Amino acid sequence: MTTLTAPRFISLHSRHTSVVLELPDNEAPLWRYWGPRLQSATHRPASASFALREARPLPSFMLDFDQPLSLAPSFGVGWFGQSALLAHRIQRTAEGSGSNPCVDFAQAFTDCQVTWLKHEQEVALTLTDQVAQLSLKIELKLDPDSDVLVLKSSLQNQGHSALNVQWLAAATLPIPGRADTVRSYAGQHNHEFLLQADVLSRSQWRRESRRGRTSHDTFPGAVVTTPGATENAGLVFGAHLAWSGNHQQTIEWLHDGQYQWQLGEWLAPGEGMLAAGASLQTPEVVATCSTRGLNGLASNFHAELRARLPWAKGQMRPRPVHLNTWEGFYFDVHPEPVKALATAAAALGIERFVLDDGWFNGRHHDRAALGDWWPDASKFPQGLGTLVEHVNSLGMEFGLWFEPEMVNPDSELYRAHPDWALQLKGRPLITARNQLVLDISRPEVSNYLFQKMDALLSAHPIRYIKWDHNRDLTTAGLLDGSPGYRAQVQAAYALMARLGAAHPDLEIESCSGGGGRIDFGVLRYAHRVWTSDCIDAMSRITIQQGFLQFFPPEIMGSHVGSAKAHTTGRTQSLAFRAAVAMTGHLGVELDARHLTDTEATELKAWIALYKQLRDHLHQSQVWRGTHADGLVWQAHGHGDELLLFVYRTQPTNHRYIPALPLPMLDTYACYQVQEILPEGTVRATGPHSTAPFFDALNDPQGVELDGSWLVHSGLPLPRAPAETVFMVRLRRMA
Ligand code: GLA
Repeated sequence: MTTLTAPRFISLHSRHTSVVLELPDNEAPLWRYWGPRLQSATHRPASASFALREARPLPSFMLDFDQPLSLAPSFGVGWFGQSALLAHRIQRTAEGSGSNPCVDFAQAFTDCQVTWLKHEQEVALTLTDQVAQLSLKIELKLDPDSDVLVLKSSLQNQGHSALNVQWLAAATLPIPGRADTVRSYAGQHNHEFLLQADVLSRSQWRRESRRGRTSHDTFPGAVVTTPGATENAGLVFGAHLAWSGNHQQTIEWLHDGQYQWQLGEWLAPGEGMLAAGASLQTPEVVATCSTRGLNGLASNFHAELRARLPWAKGQMRPRPVHLNTWEGFYFDVHPEPVKALATAAAALGIERFVLDDGWFNGRHHDRAALGDWWPDASKFPQGLGTLVEHVNSLGMEFGLWFEPEMVNPDSELYRAHPDWALQLKGRPLITARNQLVLDISRPEVSNYLFQKMDALLSAHPIRYIKWDHNRDLTTAGLLDGSPGYRAQVQAAYALMARLGAAHPDLEIESCSGGGGRIDFGVLRYAHRVWTSDCIDAMSRITIQQGFLQFFPPEIMGSHVGSAKAHTTGRTQSLAFRAAVAMTGHLGVELDARHLTDTEATELKAWIALYKQLRDHLHQSQVWRGTHADGLVWQAHGHGDELLLFVYRTQPTNHRYIPALPLPMLDTYACYQVQEILPEGTVRATGPHSTAPFFDALNDPQGVELDGSWLVHSGLPLPRAPAETVFMVRLRRMA
């Protein structure tokens, strides 16, 4: 009888997923499994009972040593795939010998210490390479409820000379070979989260951002799907790097037919230079898999982010309706019109009034003043006090816009401290939107910013900051000429944390020309994001659907803009604009002083409806879907009560409107279905649109429908023009 070696395993298990690593002697742990929960026949957590190499015959013309995918695949000693580490050191040879060879360019970890931090949930693995004199600590934490696996790595240089790290993966993940598509997000200013679906093949898939921020262009994360996976069913994997700076991810086919997925920070040349004894800590990778399709995956990410958000006293308050002055006033913010706008806002039911750009010293356009963070004396000779009091007296909170990391060359700050800008000696300064970036890693710079912001926050009850960052980083050199991308992100986080600690009730919105800084890293400090500068409702539907793959609706800043969208020139009804905006954290971004009475009454009704529904819209589960005939839908809620928004984006192609199947419902339940309409409004209808079913949806008891009917046959839809919404509430009946 053949005896198999009894391997050592590390297994982590959550409600629906399992992770299994194999621990061979004197090697880095091997990846054995990440996927749906393993259950053994005895209902004990299962894992493989054989060593990987014992079930893997060697192919021809191979090394006599077999190196499968490990948790830390490393170049030079038998691994030919993408390395989780690229590093070397220069060996200083005798003065005058003329040669300084690059050494330790190959690494192999030959020892692994296992420290359990929580049984079957959290483990720290410390690997060492005594030849290259390195220690690599990899931490894995699998949340038992959300199924989210958080990984991070820390490399320590244990040698006596500097180590130059070119790349250190925050995590390496295995993806099964049957996976066929990677869905990532491309985009640009005014159109974030543009879906980019690529077929996985033997060619390497890679996305990078070197813009010094999360970026509009390349979201640091993706979703990998297996054949047949849909919005609501099938095996899918997702991963995201929680970091607001440069990043890189690759998916690479391996010779055993699976893929490896690496994510990490893209280090500028020299940025990973580690002095003897120094360490490099990566950002976290937040990863998860689900057999419940894209929506199941989204729920896992939402749960993880909800646990991270830094709410005051640990609890989210109902998300207050905003009015933001930007598209209404742009830079032209003068106290009297702004006060009049606040009065009009309060009458609509607005709860937080945010004074956007234009309030500070000399800020009349985008060519000057960033850095001079005190009220402009020509606009606010008495400071912001009377405006804040006026806003508060109307029962609204006050919020204020800053762009702390930036400076205009035409500013008092820059004239006093031109050396504070990130720059490279001998290279021209490159402006973007007429501005430069401050080196906020210098204590004197971050102290200056803290003092200026803190002075305003201490003088007035300012409960909210819109924290902007309106350009990419270039010539990002620190004082000593070394690259400052990484330092800049760390310093921004530190400044946000310092302000948050000094003002515990403060909420921060992360904005970066709209959605250029949306990630789980900044959301350790921020409470909301400005999803996009584009508030055209049609564009927003796709932007928001992409956003919701990773982020929950309660942090998704979504505003009702003017009828004609400023960024696209398209015109949409108030009902459509409001219905798209209200699935996130609702705001208004228009000059409410000039609404007609009819418009004001209608907008007020939508705001009132949002207030009634927000407890169901937020902190609940979200299902997204698309359907033939130009329909995009979204449902929010819990099993017992769902709010369904069906957006018709195009005119129908049918004489009779097909029903909409709702795959997320319980086939064994019965639902009471009622139409939702803001008070005093009627649904937008086309000609010949009435039918008794839709009248019955508006009866107090609604219509009773069988869950399996709704799942398999579908919900009848009214005939309606393009760019309209149909909203219903589905209540599970006892
Ligand atoms: C960025 C933001 C806008 C607005 C302007 C102000 O573009 O995304 O919402 O705050 O800056 O300059």
